[in-house]
Amino acid sequence: MIIFRNLLILTFFFANAIQAGEIVSTKFGKVQGSTATSRDGRLFHQFLGIPYAKAERFQPPTNPDSWTDIKNASVYRPVCPQMLVTLGDSEPVKFAGTEDCLNLNVFTPALPQPDKTMALLPVMIWFHGGGGEMEGASKYDPQYYMDFDIVVVTFDARLVKAKKFGTKVGCPVGDRAALFECLKGKRIEDLVLPFHRWFNDITEEEFLKFGPSIEYVNVENAFMTENPFLSLKEKRISNEVPWLFTLGYQGGFVPYMAKLLSTNDPDLEKKLNTNIRKILPRYLDYEVTASDPDIVTQKIMDEYFDGGDINEGNVFQLVHLITYRFFSGPSIHSGNYYYQVDHAPMYALMIKYVPAYGIGNTFGYNGVVEGAAMDDQSYQFPWKPLFPGIDKNSKDYTLSKNLLGLLASFIENGKPTKTWGEFKDWQPYDPRNKSGASIDKDGGFSAYFPSDEFKRGYALFAPLYKNELASEFQNPTKETF
Ligand SMILES: *[C@@H]1O[C@H](CO)[C@@H](O)[C@H](O)[C@H]1NC(C)=O
Ligand SMILES: *[C@@H]1O[C@H](CO)[C@@H](O)[C@H](O)[C@H]1NC(C)=O
Repeated sequence: MIIFRNLLILTFFFANAIQAGEIVSTKFGKVQGSTATSRDGRLFHQFLGIPYAKAERFQPPTNPDSWTDIKNASVYRPVCPQMLVTLGDSEPVKFAGTEDCLNLNVFTPALPQPDKTMALLPVMIWFHGGGGEMEGASKYDPQYYMDFDIVVVTFDARLVKAKKFGTKVGCPVGDRAALFECLKGKRIEDLVLPFHRWFNDITEEEFLKFGPSIEYVNVENAFMTENPFLSLKEKRISNEVPWLFTLGYQGGFVPYMAKLLSTNDPDLEKKLNTNIRKILPRYLDYEVTASDPDIVTQKIMDEYFDGGDINEGNVFQLVHLITYRFFSGPSIHSGNYYYQVDHAPMYALMIKYVPAYGIGNTFGYNGVVEGAAMDDQSYQFPWKPLFPGIDKNSKDYTLSKNLLGLLASFIENGKPTKTWGEFKDWQPYDPRNKSGASIDKDGGFSAYFPSDEFKRGYALFAPLYKNELASEFQNPTKETF
């Protein structure tokens, strides 16, 4: 059973009488927010850093302490403990954050008025990126969304699983109580800083695994008590909320890969090829789940690199490979599973847009990467410091306005009605014909879904999931802590 009870806390905002001005009552105390201006110049209210829970390290969360004064909610609170990643190899890694980090932020274009009938606005809850191991909510300033009648909630949540910390710092990981006791005695900095990320030593690189954090302990208010894939497979959950999934055509153009591509280092190429049987299973996360990782690696190398080495001419295939394995593949496979249970409509959108400014620019790949990782976030949020924010004269402004209009219509109606261009008949996703839509290279909107690259990934991975990678789907590992 997946329990979503914690989300109820988020409804406090409308359940309580709200005074004039910007002091509002929450379930736990009053907060005073501030105002800001949306992209199109509309005033909106923001309430930052509202505690939604408190927790001892690795312990289940409980309600936050109530407060009697008026909480100043005009500044973001710090992120949860993490290592600050840098793109420079020689820069020392730095620690950021605090363990008292269970806070949320509410943004709204309107406040309910006393004695007036409340028209409830749709609420979008945004889960910040970072693979469950990095980043925080404050990066996502929803000033583009605030042009629409939508409430946006962002939040911080604890990062990295206990076992992973334990493995890093030499705590016993076989026993839950012993592990927690050992971790409890450490300085938080010492838990976070042993991770190695963004180092150019590709054989040592640590990769984000994007796994859900599951609370197998049966505690009250647990957010997720079972591997969600298992819940789906056993038909214990249905899909009651319409779902729009976006697939970046080259979503595998992630900073790590970009860095690899932009380093013109023959030694690196040699190292990559010599160690490919070690690197691929780790990076693509089948080291443990594959019945024989070498067979999977061989099939991948045959399909994407014609069985030869990775070289300058074909290195971009790595991007397509990662796109499928990390991003579009899991979305489509989830869509296929959801199709078999009770499901609200699902909409599939492939993004192939080449932005004037995207993640590619940061690495010297200007104007060539179609739908890179994170570019779609930059159309939704002025996402600094990686992106400078979208200038009104840029072609990206048009795309961003179109996309936000589309997403807002979906948030408001559960149906993406505000498409643009000629193509109007966007059918919900159906696994039989993989119906969907696409934002093209030039920002046009069309029925082109899925892409040939995607079909190729599907053709390779669908049989792998039935055979060599079957354990991923048949018996998802039950990581208990
Ligand atoms: C809230 O905190 C911020 C940052 O410390 C400060 O600038 C602001 O004046 C405070 N607001 C109130 C009402 O105290
Ligand atoms: C996909 O198949 C379904 C069911 O047969 C049908 O309703 C839908 O119109 C089809 N979509 C496309 C884009 O062909």
